[in-house]
Amino acid sequence: MSERNIILKTPGLTMRFGGLTAVDNFDIEVQEGRIVGLIGPNGAGKTTCFNMITGFYNPSEGNIYFYDEDITGLPTHKVCAKGIARTFQNIRLFYNETVLQNVMIGAHLRQRSSWWQAPLNLPSFLREEKEISDKAMFLLEKVGLSDLAGEKANSLPYGEQRRLEIARALATQPKFLLLDEPAAGMNPQESWELMHFIQKTREDFDLTILLIEHDMKVVMGVCEHIWVLDYGKLIAEGPPEEIQANPKVIEAYLGEEYLENA
Ligand SMILES: Nc1ncnc2c1ncn2[C@@H]1O[C@H](COP(=O)(O)OP(=O)(O)OP(=O)(O)O)[C@@H](O)[C@H]1O
Ligand SMILES: [Mg+2]
Repeated sequence: MSERNIILKTPGLTMRFGGLTAVDNFDIEVQEGRIVGLIGPNGAGKTTCFNMITGFYNPSEGNIYFYDEDITGLPTHKVCAKGIARTFQNIRLFYNETVLQNVMIGAHLRQRSSWWQAPLNLPSFLREEKEISDKAMFLLEKVGLSDLAGEKANSLPYGEQRRLEIARALATQPKFLLLDEPAAGMNPQESWELMHFIQKTREDFDLTILLIEHDMKVVMGVCEHIWVLDYGKLIAEGPPEEIQANPKVIEAYLGEEYLENA
């Protein structure tokens, strides 16, 4: 691999819940501009890693460096302002709001004026609102949902809700995007489209993407580098070809059938 900037570094990252060490010394380096993956069995600690990186959990030990800045323990909104955005394993949308409003909510996190300034500076507030809704429309076009801008979020099928969540994450103008099981609940056609969508999104928005995914076609198809967690511990890392052939990974996660069907 060519030399690239390191966008994320997590020396010694550890999360304990009472007696349970959910993540034990999760130590990775992510190169800027890559699409990389985190895999492992249910309960291995993958989402917990995302929760630490994005400020939802304060790690028990270790550090998180975004570029070279220590962001360990920052609250979620500050992590977001640094340029890290995520989607959730269990989709989180404002279901009674429209598709467009859901994306505008993401964009508001980057807005300059705040609500208490609005009455004092109405013209600039309105100008910003217009900018934000234009930008949200632009993002909806990018994810192929602009025709549904006025629909309630809860009327969207599952695959489209996942794309809407990605649009909302993009509205915060991230440099680093974390996707927690983006293909969950998708049929093979939808997950095939999702793979291309992830690659195109990386190009269009100049992103680095870390994804958790159980769909091995998606993981092996888009990831340039993969880490494998098992019971909170990293058991392997490498390019997809190596990971698929790694006996420890096959035993802990992929299973022998995976090899037979590959
Ligand atoms: N807030 C919490 N309090 C207590 N235990 C937790 C908490 N969050 C996660 N855990 C535990 O940590 C372990 C790792 O959970 P995590 O959700 O990170 O797994 P995962 O790899 O994302 O699994 P899945 O593939 O099923 O999503 C599990 O045993 C889980 O029960
Ligand atoms: Mg999870």
